[in-house]
Amino acid sequence: LPAHAQLAVPSTWVNQRGSILSIQAIDASTGNFTGTYVNNAAGFSCRGQPYAMAGNVAANKIDFYVNWTSPTAPNCRTITIWNGRVAGDKIPTRWKLYYVGSDWNFHKMTGQDLFTRR
Ligand code: BTN
Repeated sequence: LPAHAQLAVPSTWVNQRGSILSIQAIDASTGNFTGTYVNNAAGFSCRGQPYAMAGNVAANKIDFYVNWTSPTAPNCRTITIWNGRVAGDKIPTRWKLYYVGSDWNFHKMTGQDLFTRR
């Protein structure tokens, strides 16, 4: 089976915060994919605009990240990495959001997102 057998490409997924993950292209030999992410989550910045997203899928394991910077949208100076699994029309994930604090150290927030295929 190809690396991405579990994942339909292109496909669009929405999480419980209303954010939209769009997987647009995949390299069949590596499982590396690209697309966009629109954050719509309450309590966060950089909302309502697409940011570049990249990741990898291998069997049912999926990882992807967004660097919240863009030439055409606000720069949040944060990075989020999601780790999860493809389970039919659901992708349950855990995420880590990294940022540089006013103390010039890295800080981490963590949470969970459940994506459902749209
Ligand atoms: C920021 O506020 O620094 C950038 C936006 C971060 C949005 C986070 S990423 C994890 C969680 N899941 C979402 O869909 N949005 C928030």
